[in-house]
Amino acid sequence: MPETTHVDYSTKIPNNVGLMDDQRVLKALEQWHPGYIDWWNTMGPDGFQTSDVYLRTAVSIDPKGWAKFDYVKMPEYRWGILLAPRMEGRQVNFGAHKGEAAWQEVPGEYRAMLRRLIVVQGDTEPASVEQQRFLGKTAPSLYDMRNLFQVNVEEGRHLWAMVYLLQKHFGRDGREEAGELLNRRSGDADKPRMLGAFNEETPDWLSFFMFTFFTDRDGKMQLESLAQSGFDPLSRTCRFMLTEEAHHMFVGETGVSRTAEATCAAMKAAGIEDPYDINAVRKLGVIDLPTMQKKANLHFSLSLDLFGSEVSTNAANYYNSGVKGRFQETRIEDDHVLTSDTYPVSKLVSGQIKMVDEPALTAINMRLRDDYVADCNKGVERWNKAIEKTGINFRFKLPHVAFHRHIGEFQNVKASPDGQVLSEAEWAKKRDAWLPSKADGDFIQSLMQPCWERGKFSSWIAPPKVGVDNKGGDFEYVKIHQG
Ligand SMILES: [Fe+2]
Ligand SMILES: [Fe+2]
Repeated sequence: MPETTHVDYSTKIPNNVGLMDDQRVLKALEQWHPGYIDWWNTMGPDGFQTSDVYLRTAVSIDPKGWAKFDYVKMPEYRWGILLAPRMEGRQVNFGAHKGEAAWQEVPGEYRAMLRRLIVVQGDTEPASVEQQRFLGKTAPSLYDMRNLFQVNVEEGRHLWAMVYLLQKHFGRDGREEAGELLNRRSGDADKPRMLGAFNEETPDWLSFFMFTFFTDRDGKMQLESLAQSGFDPLSRTCRFMLTEEAHHMFVGETGVSRTAEATCAAMKAAGIEDPYDINAVRKLGVIDLPTMQKKANLHFSLSLDLFGSEVSTNAANYYNSGVKGRFQETRIEDDHVLTSDTYPVSKLVSGQIKMVDEPALTAINMRLRDDYVADCNKGVERWNKAIEKTGINFRFKLPHVAFHRHIGEFQNVKASPDGQVLSEAEWAKKRDAWLPSKADGDFIQSLMQPCWERGKFSSWIAPPKVGVDNKGGDFEYVKIHQG
């Protein structure tokens, strides 16, 4: 069957890439499949593999009508290979090959580069499932539990998406890499996942919401720039993944917002005006806003590290070669070659944070990070609007990009959330005011009690404005059969 917008579900591996006519790849994927199911059963959502979850499955890649909702046991979810439709006459839109026809096969000279990009992207997908695997047990509602599992199965599908590219286009080493993607484990001392933020714990639901807001948004930016790739199959894969990614960030943004809403409502009801009266607020069974800010500080800074060094010859090579572009590349008004442009980069210059013009090609990571920060800020603004409506005087604010960094220009300095460079001693004194402390974690943990009754929500989180698939908040989003 040729490539269509319709997804073929008659095969074991649903797809719209004509897998039936590609016996070599079909076989390779069928061989990989049992290992994947094994990984899902051991590393996927712990304790809920036999529950019936109200999930959406893609039945078409038409952006408007692809989701079909039904109860599914997660190990039976129809993971598949879905690519956005081919655009006739698509070209390489940037770099040294600008204007050439987009590549349908991997160019030999860029094989290693492309493989690396696909493997790194692929590695993040199962990592987040591993990080989130115990959260079902403390879900604050069936609605939230369902959203968690939806994110999880879709990250699983994103792994399939990258594994398809490896199996289809990278021969034997592609097969080996596909196997390795099932062998690494988030946080493992010997076989960790490839990127720092994906080896951190996601110990509670507020972390989960911050993770999906900040770290899935990094995923969005990476997918956006890979969707620009001159290697057309990668572009088409990422374009479809982005339609799923939007839901993950929705879960994060509304999760944080609903948490803040519950806090503000409880404060109002108890007549507490001061958001910094932490002990009084915590007694109400909600998470105080300053602690939420600390969580945001942590997840934002960890996510910034995912953009790599501000100035990077790798990034320049990716761009120049046409394999990875900028956010919304084709909408930017410049020559898309960048050999004579500069871009302002925030750098540490003799102990001071300054903006320095660098060649635009080597500053590609910085530019993507700037676009990311702007995107984050829009969401933070929406949080603040919601708080403002309640009359509580508090605003969330993203910390300075130099705050709490482990990669790039600021990895060797300590900086405050305002971007002031500090001594080690000053940092040590203030650290717990800016990042979650052990006591903060313990307090949040104490609120993480399961709330699985239909239509009920934990005290610390407000119900959603609307449910999933036009269902109400009291819909039975998960029929729990623990096992
Ligand atoms: Fe993903
Ligand atoms: Fe995601």
